[in-house]
Amino acid sequence: MTGENTMQTISIAIDGPSGAGKSTLARSIAAKLGYLYVDTGAIYRTIGYHAFYSGIDPKDEAAVSAALPELHVELIYGEDGLQHMFLNGQDVTKEIRLPEVSMYASAVSAHPAVRSYLLEMQRGLARTHNVIMDGRDIGTVVLPDAQVKVFLTASPEARAQRRMLELEQRGTPQPFEQILKDIQERDWNDSHRATAPLRQAEDAVLLDTTELTFQESEAALLDIIRKRTEA
Ligand code: DC
Repeated sequence: MTGENTMQTISIAIDGPSGAGKSTLARSIAAKLGYLYVDTGAIYRTIGYHAFYSGIDPKDEAAVSAALPELHVELIYGEDGLQHMFLNGQDVTKEIRLPEVSMYASAVSAHPAVRSYLLEMQRGLARTHNVIMDGRDIGTVVLPDAQVKVFLTASPEARAQRRMLELEQRGTPQPFEQILKDIQERDWNDSHRATAPLRQAEDAVLLDTTELTFQESEAALLDIIRKRTEA
């Protein structure tokens, strides 16, 4: 026990590879249950975005670490109820979604200094709120005592297909092959890094949504949550 959940808050940890539907599902379930939705990928993206616009090589651990003390990263819930990311006082919520920033986020997230810099921010939110938090290491590292842990996955092709539709809807279309290649590269990076790699926690429930619609995935997830929180 780390003692992180000593206040009577409930934590739901959702981990899995990119494009598995974690954020859409977690956001919808948070609204239904009245929990705070915490998208931890957005926090890593904020650091990645800083490297991107400052011309820092995201793989250069020393350069990225040297920049951290100058960064003021804030996670603020707007009147719309949505999570906004602020970097040194500037709202970067939109910018961190640029496709180029994804690879930067993946690269900076491999550095132990970045991970430890962001750890307390994530744990603090779970101490003070009921949260549904999604990421790569929530059930394994950030909230090892979470009452509910789910490892959400889908085949790379299904994830690429969903991402393609999402990018089309946002008006920033990309070819399927490119999206699939990016997903496979990020999967590899995220699960092969030495610190807090993406992996299923031993006590996490596996949910594969390859063949499931959004509604079916949501029902399955709610069912897992109810079983674990009402037990
Ligand atoms: O969930 P996402 O694709 O927005 O996350 C962006 C990157 O951040 C992803 O490639 C891996 C990294 N990440 C991480 O290492 N740990 C987390 N808890 C969340 C994201």
